[in-house]
Amino acid sequence: MSDGHPQDLSVEAQGAAARAAALRTRLNASGPAQLVRAPGRVNLIGEHTDYNEGLVLPAAIDREVWMAFEPWDRPEVELTSVDFGEPLSFSFEGLSPETRGAKRWIDYVAATAWAMRDAGLPIRGFRGVMDSNIPIGSGLSSSAALEMASSWALAVPGAPRPDAGKMAAIAQRGENKYVGVNCGIMDQFASAAGVAGHALLIDCRVNQFKAAPMPAGLSLVVCETGSLRKLEASAYNTRRSECELGVKLIAEREPGVKALRDVDEAMLERNLSRLPEVVARRCEHIVREDARVMETVSALASGDLDELGQLFAASHASLRDLYEVSSPELDAMVEIAVAVPGVVGSRMTGAGFGGCTVSLVKHGSEEALRDAVLAQYQKKTGLQPRVYIVAAVDGAGPIHDQ
Ligand code: GLA
Repeated sequence: MSDGHPQDLSVEAQGAAARAAALRTRLNASGPAQLVRAPGRVNLIGEHTDYNEGLVLPAAIDREVWMAFEPWDRPEVELTSVDFGEPLSFSFEGLSPETRGAKRWIDYVAATAWAMRDAGLPIRGFRGVMDSNIPIGSGLSSSAALEMASSWALAVPGAPRPDAGKMAAIAQRGENKYVGVNCGIMDQFASAAGVAGHALLIDCRVNQFKAAPMPAGLSLVVCETGSLRKLEASAYNTRRSECELGVKLIAEREPGVKALRDVDEAMLERNLSRLPEVVARRCEHIVREDARVMETVSALASGDLDELGQLFAASHASLRDLYEVSSPELDAMVEIAVAVPGVVGSRMTGAGFGGCTVSLVKHGSEEALRDAVLAQYQKKTGLQPRVYIVAAVDGAGPIHDQ
């Protein structure tokens, strides 16, 4: 856990040191600049379960947002993105979801400032520069990473800091209320709490986690489909409402059911005929996906690769057929991956409707997967894929490299 602890940049530090130096030069600070970082995430399994108070198993990955900044006395933030050029700013005065103007990337920073202040945490203004190597709009949580990096830059030094789960909940509330995206807590939590070399088993009912070691001998490979996620926001909200309707109808007969987390297979079975057909399928996905998360944690611990492959395949099929959030491109990417020797399992990851797949791959087979994707995916879909071999890293925090 990196919560509150400086990142060690003395080891594999070459790339990191160069990145820090470039950001500092770009900031051109009058005094010493400070640095913070926050990782994106990939979810191994447990999809759409977070907003059903269920279980998820993401890992923070070495695709990160970095920020160099100097605090100032003004109650405002001015931030320049290396990718977008022009500085954007917002003031703390009058900051509220009601007064938010046109949609801009800096809204994620403003949302975090608003939510921190609303939670009673002191915040400070700063002038900063940020860069990111998390591909935008690909489902690897570039927005959550920007929020978590901001939560460190905005924090007043010495003020008590909530733990990673609580900080994630604050940032999630900012995204829900200020930005207006009705996401669950997984992305912010993974970015905040990441543990190098581990996935995180997060219980989204109580917002607590356990680190689950990634087995030696397996790599995490992310394949980006290059397809737009146009339908995502409205379809995501529809799925949430369908789950809520399922809970309401089941709870009429089953006292104590507050969320799909409280429903097991037997309970679902005896209530199926009372649910509209689409709602029944959505509920089936969630109830079984929660069980698959625990089964995956066991299979990772025992190194049961066949079982891992079957669990990934079952999750993907369920997201495609029952939850209906996959896409022809995601299906094509998974089909290519699972045919490559050394690929243990492959499935869509994140919200769906485009974005990325995640594959568990035996060491030494990563390039075979990359070659297969580059050779076959574009022919099948007409789209340009990208393949990233990623590592699980520590969660967001300050960087002390001087
Ligand atoms: C998006 C949301 C998360 C989660 C996933 C699906 O990434 O931001 O909260 O619901 O989709 O698992």
